[in-house]
Amino acid sequence: MSQNRRPKNTLTVTDNRTGRQYELDVHEGDVVRAMDLRQIKVQDGDFGMMAYDPGFTNTAFTTSRITDVDGGRGVLEYRGYPIEQLAEGSSFLEVAYLILKGELPTTEQLDAFVHDVTFHTYVHENVLTILKGFRYDAHAMGMMISTVAALSTFYPEAKEVEDPENRWAQINRLIAKMPTLAAFAYRHHRGLPYVYPENELSYTANFLNMLFRIGGREYESNPVLERALDVLFILHADHEQNCSTTAMRVIGSSRVDPYSALAGAMAALYGPLHGGANEAVLRMLTEIGTTDNIPAFMDSVRRGERRLMGFGHRVYKAYDPRAAIIKRTADDVFSVTGRNPLLEIALELEKIALGEEYFVKRNLYPNVDFYSGLIYQAMGFPVELFPVLFAIPRTVGWLAQWQEMVVDREQKIARPRQVFLGPERRDFVPPDER
Ligand code: CMC
Repeated sequence: MSQNRRPKNTLTVTDNRTGRQYELDVHEGDVVRAMDLRQIKVQDGDFGMMAYDPGFTNTAFTTSRITDVDGGRGVLEYRGYPIEQLAEGSSFLEVAYLILKGELPTTEQLDAFVHDVTFHTYVHENVLTILKGFRYDAHAMGMMISTVAALSTFYPEAKEVEDPENRWAQINRLIAKMPTLAAFAYRHHRGLPYVYPENELSYTANFLNMLFRIGGREYESNPVLERALDVLFILHADHEQNCSTTAMRVIGSSRVDPYSALAGAMAALYGPLHGGANEAVLRMLTEIGTTDNIPAFMDSVRRGERRLMGFGHRVYKAYDPRAAIIKRTADDVFSVTGRNPLLEIALELEKIALGEEYFVKRNLYPNVDFYSGLIYQAMGFPVELFPVLFAIPRTVGWLAQWQEMVVDREQKIARPRQVFLGPERRDFVPPDER
């Protein structure tokens, strides 16, 4: 190629069915637009070519400026800031502001945000009536999903999604009320009276107080545990286009209110392959019980009968940076609570997995859910609350991504295509003639 001839930013496709050639533009991020494929046809009347991608494994559904995950290098950044630096020096509400607004807040901006979140923590008393309708053993996540959806009926103005001030009001409300709903769900489960929010406490201290306060005595949260929970919230705040965030965007694309969309995102998170994995990890470690049982368990994983919960990730093909920070945080927590006896099993599983071909070949490294459950358990959280502890901070990411989608003029209602493989047209036959 001569020096002054610059390569073209296009892709040439030859359709061997027809011999025709097409030149497709290559856009920022090394993408071709799926709609550009539609010109590729065998005959004039054809629908045109589509991309088939079950599970969206290689489809960019949106552009985004919020969170960047480099799965190959094990890097996670919120608005350009590395997760390690935020976990070290920031607080959850400061990170929430950063994710939602795009820049770190000034002191005044942060104070105003913390004030607004703190003063929206109460929920309407009728929410308690809804909770009373659940059985005593209802899963906390089911109660949360229902009560978040119900909030849309208390704030009907939330459907004005095009109004930025209105959006911001609902964003504040949701971030503020999630810990209250979570604590109320937990206390319903335990049959304990509800503890109302205390406005002078921090976000995490208030949550711990609503959960664990007993007999009118103020719950004194240990500063190490309070900080550990804040760090865990920072690590879970956003993770770009995962299953639940995509659910949030897809539901929100119909222009429904954010409470309804967020209830759908929470439902997606609840599954054991996503945010329910932290609960599944704890149940798995408890089931293994002792290190003696590890070889038999790992054999069943190698035979493909079981999954090693808390391992593997669609995007990370290296150690999940969140898991590395959580592992360090676990040491701080255990210095206060005592070592979780299941840790020994977890460490042994990790050691085997990092050294064995089956796991190495498939890039199965610990993910965010592998060690978080051990910390939650040591801090006294019941297992059913684990996915809820994921949902509280992820509310920030869901709302930031929802807001980005609402103002993105390129976004339309989500409506994928299908490849129909069912029967050809046929005529209805009455029952007595079948
Ligand atoms: N244990 C054993 N084998 C596994 C695991 C695992 N945890 N994960 C993937 N594999 C195997 C899988 O059987 C397949 O093997 P083969 O090629 O022989 O069929 C191969 O690895 C690729 O798996 P995949 O299911 O095609 O990968 P995926 O990208 O669709 O799934 C995942 C990603 C996270 C759903 C999966 O790794 C998994 O199920 N992990 C366990 C659940 C879990 O920890 N989820 C939390 C994810 S991180 C936080 C979050 O998203 O909420």
